[in-house]
Amino acid sequence: MAESVSVKMDDPKKKFKGKKFRVAIIGCGGIAQAHLKAYQEMPEVEIVAGVDINPERLKVMEETWGLPKKALFKDWKEMLKKIKPDGVDVCTPNGVHCAPVVDACNAGCHAMVEKPMAMNPAECKKMIAAAKKNKVKLSVGFQQRYNDKTTALIRARDEGRFGNIMFVKCQALRRRGVPNWGVFGQKELQGGGPMIDIGVHILECAHAFMGSPKPVAASGNIWTYMGDKPSTVRNAWPNWDYKTYTVEDLAIGQIRFENGAILQIESSFIAHIEKNDVFNFTAMGEKAGCSWEDTAIYTDENGLMVNMKPTYIGSTDAWGGLFRVKLQNWVDACTKGTPLGASGEAGLAVQKMLDGIYRSAAEGKEVTID
Ligand SMILES: NC(=O)c1ccc[n+]([C@@H]2O[C@H](COP(=O)([O-])OP(=O)(O)OC[C@H]3O[C@@H](n4cnc5c(N)ncnc54)[C@H](O)[C@@H]3O)[C@@H](O)[C@H]2O)c1
Repeated sequence: MAESVSVKMDDPKKKFKGKKFRVAIIGCGGIAQAHLKAYQEMPEVEIVAGVDINPERLKVMEETWGLPKKALFKDWKEMLKKIKPDGVDVCTPNGVHCAPVVDACNAGCHAMVEKPMAMNPAECKKMIAAAKKNKVKLSVGFQQRYNDKTTALIRARDEGRFGNIMFVKCQALRRRGVPNWGVFGQKELQGGGPMIDIGVHILECAHAFMGSPKPVAASGNIWTYMGDKPSTVRNAWPNWDYKTYTVEDLAIGQIRFENGAILQIESSFIAHIEKNDVFNFTAMGEKAGCSWEDTAIYTDENGLMVNMKPTYIGSTDAWGGLFRVKLQNWVDACTKGTPLGASGEAGLAVQKMLDGIYRSAAEGKEVTID
């Protein structure tokens, strides 16, 4: 009897029937603005608070997003106590992901946290444990997981198009793209550079495409050669803070999985390459290969080698649209009990791979991933 009562009380559809899902934003900087725009299109969501240590950012929450002064906080603990939101959306620098997520889960709130999930696997495990203990949904902001390119290739994989996927090569490369805002160049606040910041996106969707095999070993290296020096070369994001720059410019890694598959990744803020932005993975399977960027599948059909390219894949590949889809996935999971796309467990698997590559670079040899 007691059990059926608790099942009824836990039913999110009943809990949120006729009620808004009340979300507090923790970290009201650049990416929070994209999240806020996306929530604007969700009538079931109400933004109930903003938390930031920078008063200028709180002013934006008041002036642009219409929050009253009493909904603005410098400290998320105080906000959790006073506002009691249903969910928090954590958009702080990477070093400030774990603590607000754990506190929010312990206050009974669902949590969305921007990518990467945290600074290291130990922090990810704490976050997952807090979500499990409090029976709340924890999602990580990997929007490329919901990209139509990714979902189309996952569907082709599920239909058996590729057979055994043996090798995936990932690239997240900028020719000249060191962020000139935030703290992206500061290792102690971010955990690393381009590998943890942009490599993480393509790594997560490639890993999901592979069927999320278990990573068992990593090798790689990192180099810093330009980001920590002044530059007069023209580019779209000039004058980054080279004096506080302590992360890598280029990271190259290889992951070995339990099933024998291999993933390679190249990631850079500042590489001597032809184009400014290269963001892609390519895969080789026993029956077919593919390229994520153009959703092409390379296979054999009717005695011929055939390259298949769709004429239409969908309309959510634009940046803004993807934010809407990823946040909607979390909101639906919290309010309707639908499955999460990028869960805490997905975030942990990616973090173990990132951590393995950085450890290998530091130790100068292949390292195991547990
Ligand atoms: N999904 C994506 O494509 C994407 C894109 C950009 C950034 N991000 C992620 O979003 C996060 C934030 O990046 P951003 O570009 O918005 O950076 P940002 O510097 O513009 O914003 C971060 C905000 O957090 C605030 N902050 C810092 N410490 C805080 C604390 N202790 N309590 C409350 N607020 C605090 C800062 O004052 C700032 O306003 C990072 O984890 C980053 O990796 C994701």
